[in-house]
Amino acid sequence: MAWKTLDEMDLAGKVVLVRVDINVPVENGVVTDATRIEKIAPTVKFIMAQGGKPVLLAHFGRPKGKVVPEMSLRPLVPALEAAMGCPVRFAEDCIGGPAKRAVAALAEGEVLLLENTRFHAGEEKNDPQMSASLAALGEVYVNDAFSAAHRAHSSTEGVAHLLPSAAGRLMEAELKALEAALGNPARPVTAVVGGAKVSTKLDLLGNLVAKVDNLVIGGGMANTFLVAQGIDIGKSLAEHDMAETAREILGKAEAAGCRIVLPSDVVVAREFKAGAENEVVAATACPSDAMILDAGPDAVAEIIRVFEASKTLIWNGPLGAFEIAPFDTATNAAAARAAELTEAGGLTSVAGGGDTVAALNKSGAAAKFSYISTAGGAFLEWMEGKELPGVAALDQDD
Ligand code: 3PG
Ligand code: MG
Repeated sequence: MAWKTLDEMDLAGKVVLVRVDINVPVENGVVTDATRIEKIAPTVKFIMAQGGKPVLLAHFGRPKGKVVPEMSLRPLVPALEAAMGCPVRFAEDCIGGPAKRAVAALAEGEVLLLENTRFHAGEEKNDPQMSASLAALGEVYVNDAFSAAHRAHSSTEGVAHLLPSAAGRLMEAELKALEAALGNPARPVTAVVGGAKVSTKLDLLGNLVAKVDNLVIGGGMANTFLVAQGIDIGKSLAEHDMAETAREILGKAEAAGCRIVLPSDVVVAREFKAGAENEVVAATACPSDAMILDAGPDAVAEIIRVFEASKTLIWNGPLGAFEIAPFDTATNAAAARAAELTEAGGLTSVAGGGDTVAALNKSGAAAKFSYISTAGGAFLEWMEGKELPGVAALDQDD
């Protein structure tokens, strides 16, 4: 980790550009989940406590280089003021005259939020001119947007090369938690990977089998692995054309000494709706007119035994069709046990990814996990073993 932390920066009297990810859900102009806003508060408050002036750079949605009024960051100002406990000024452009004037007018004890960086096409192109325009606004750059660090954009990557740079507190916490889970973890390490498709998580599975001791596969992608073993799965969702790839992953796991845990029993139903009539059958005995919607009780018991024998757990993706009860049963039961083991001090548990966090929040387990990442795509890419451009750009050796 060659990046600097806020403690190593001279912030007094400086205009500090802070890249944050406040891409939060908003309904009718009101923020419905302020988690990402609350999580950046320690960084912003620390900068102010040191006498620095925080200027927030952020994107919102995907306006694709054009001004899209519905994707303005302005409606987030009240939520930011509530989280920061100070006035938050707003500039209607993130570069040029409006931004410069707003920076010049910024008083100590105030925060400035600049309009959506993605209103400029240069942002996503990581255009050097865009990066230079951003850098011209401040004296120090802090990246606190781990969840946008998989993007090589001007505000996440380019500008880092132009100013003295550091990781913010949230970025630091995310990187430390992930390092503890996968970089240099206490063993045995277990990963849970769920979700619908093997095809979207191929790199992830490939990287994990080489790094973890146990890999629990759940959700629709477990069905593809059952197919790969010649098991008839009736009407279950699966990617039949991925069976060969799944067999390759199984072979790679065996060679690496990684144990793959697939469900031994499953919950099946004839229709996918809340409260649908369902039954538990062996994974090898799915009726031809039924579909697998969750892992069964024996499978959950096995997963729990694996957790109990583990020191580190990294979780991405639900075990079943968790959006609809009762097919959230396996996810909830396994998550609850992971939460207990974490509370008891025997397990370091880290989870990330939009759906995963939603599932673990729903079960109430998330609050007891060691760390819940704010990131979706970035968490996944990190788990895949990829270098995140936003993190790499903070490296002082470049
Ligand atoms: C997210 O919400 O996952 C991040 O803000 C990144 O957004 P993006 O996928 O539009 O780059
Ligand atoms: Mg995303």
